[in-house]
Amino acid sequence: MTQVDVLLGLQWGDEGKGKIVDVLTPQYDIIARFQGGPNAGHTLEFEGHKHVLHTIPSGIFRDGVMNVIGNGVVIDPVIFQKELEKLAPYKLDIKNRLVISKKAHLILPTHRLLDQASEHAKGHDKIGSTLKGIGPTYMDKTGRNGLRVGDIFLPNFKEKYNSLVEKHIGILSHYDGFTYNLSELEGPWMEGIEILKGLDAIDSEQYFYDARKSGKKILAEGAQGTMLDIDFGTYPFVTSSNTVTAGTCTGLGVPPNSIGRVIGIFKAYCTRVGSGPFPTELLDEVGEQIRAEGREFGATTGRPRRCGWIDLPALRYAIMVNGVTELSMMKADVLSIFDEIEVCTHYMVDGKRMDYLPYDIANMICTPVYEKVKGWKTDLTGLSSYADSPAELKAYVEYLEQKLEVPVKVVSVGPDRSQTLKN
Ligand code: GDP
Ligand code: IMO
Ligand code: MG
Repeated sequence: MTQVDVLLGLQWGDEGKGKIVDVLTPQYDIIARFQGGPNAGHTLEFEGHKHVLHTIPSGIFRDGVMNVIGNGVVIDPVIFQKELEKLAPYKLDIKNRLVISKKAHLILPTHRLLDQASEHAKGHDKIGSTLKGIGPTYMDKTGRNGLRVGDIFLPNFKEKYNSLVEKHIGILSHYDGFTYNLSELEGPWMEGIEILKGLDAIDSEQYFYDARKSGKKILAEGAQGTMLDIDFGTYPFVTSSNTVTAGTCTGLGVPPNSIGRVIGIFKAYCTRVGSGPFPTELLDEVGEQIRAEGREFGATTGRPRRCGWIDLPALRYAIMVNGVTELSMMKADVLSIFDEIEVCTHYMVDGKRMDYLPYDIANMICTPVYEKVKGWKTDLTGLSSYADSPAELKAYVEYLEQKLEVPVKVVSVGPDRSQTLKN
């Protein structure tokens, strides 16, 4: 039986997962998404084109590779259809490259409305959700009310849909002044359902068992990041799924002892989009410089990302929870503008040193303590080998390896597939 390798984000998402999955795909037979949904925006760049994927796994462009949307994913048929339309010019054989778990849950138009109504009602305390209906859909999943992909083939699907929508309309009526036009949203949604029907719906647990038995190499592609995990992230400012390695097992139906390499991916600095604690956030000109140089604007919502220095306590925590076996460091090129780079080694809380993330981080003042590291001040974007990279970059990588106790196997120096250095 083969093992299932996992690639996932160690920060607050947008680490560059799409890029590295695309780079690694030639080593695999199957690429599988195990959680999240269209809140994700995974960017791939090659041959002068930039692609942003939301629901579809990042292996879709490579010949001979199967892509699986696992049971842990939530799917909005409208966004899914738009994704497929964007891929149409590339003439990919989608039908033979993409399958979907029957047990994946559907995001209804009313889930999106509930997300909006809930965020609006929270005012200043809002999560900063992508408003894609993620939270309400996972709530219906755990509340045992949800609709699943397999249901669309049932004769009573429309009844099931209507009955859940009725429930949602009841809840929406409690939000004072929240207005909406549901019939406008339902047409495109039903159209998307027809598109979904054209793809193969599978039992992913059986699919992966058979695939592993026949020697297929599998890579699970995480969405969001560890600090957004429903259990281990900066709750309540998190997403509604388990973004950590354990989520692979429940989100695909593969057993814990099948997990192989765990590739943890992080930016050479740190970003966050949406509300919530971010100890190393830079609200000054340096933060602006990182945002401008790193083009830190959301791939899904276009919102500016909050920027700051790398946070080692948060990374160590993420490595621990995920059992990370190797690291990929992204966007090293962005830091080329600085003479000195700062690294948060620990926090101070109420005058006491803290080496890990405190429980109630959302409600406490957690002051980062920094060490300064010499910058490389060299354009890295044309490098083709790690051996040729500046000594200061190598020193930064070695410093992080020593602090994090996990090897950095990949250093990324630009958004393109080719701008990837192997250490
Ligand atoms: P994901 O959600 O983890 O897949 O990441 P996103 O696609 O949301 O955000 C990462 C952004 O950084 C995208 O615009 C990528 O094209 C870009 N990117 C990835 N790696 C690098 C890199 O090494 N350098 C630079 N400058 N950009 C990168
Ligand atoms: P990828 O896969 C960055 C954030 C939102 C918000 C919180 C909850 O591209 O890394 P949700 O819509 O899930 O209810 O939002 O989580 N968020 C992300 N931030 N990258 C993502 O995905 C994200 N998906 C959700 O901004 O703060
Ligand atoms: Mg993203």
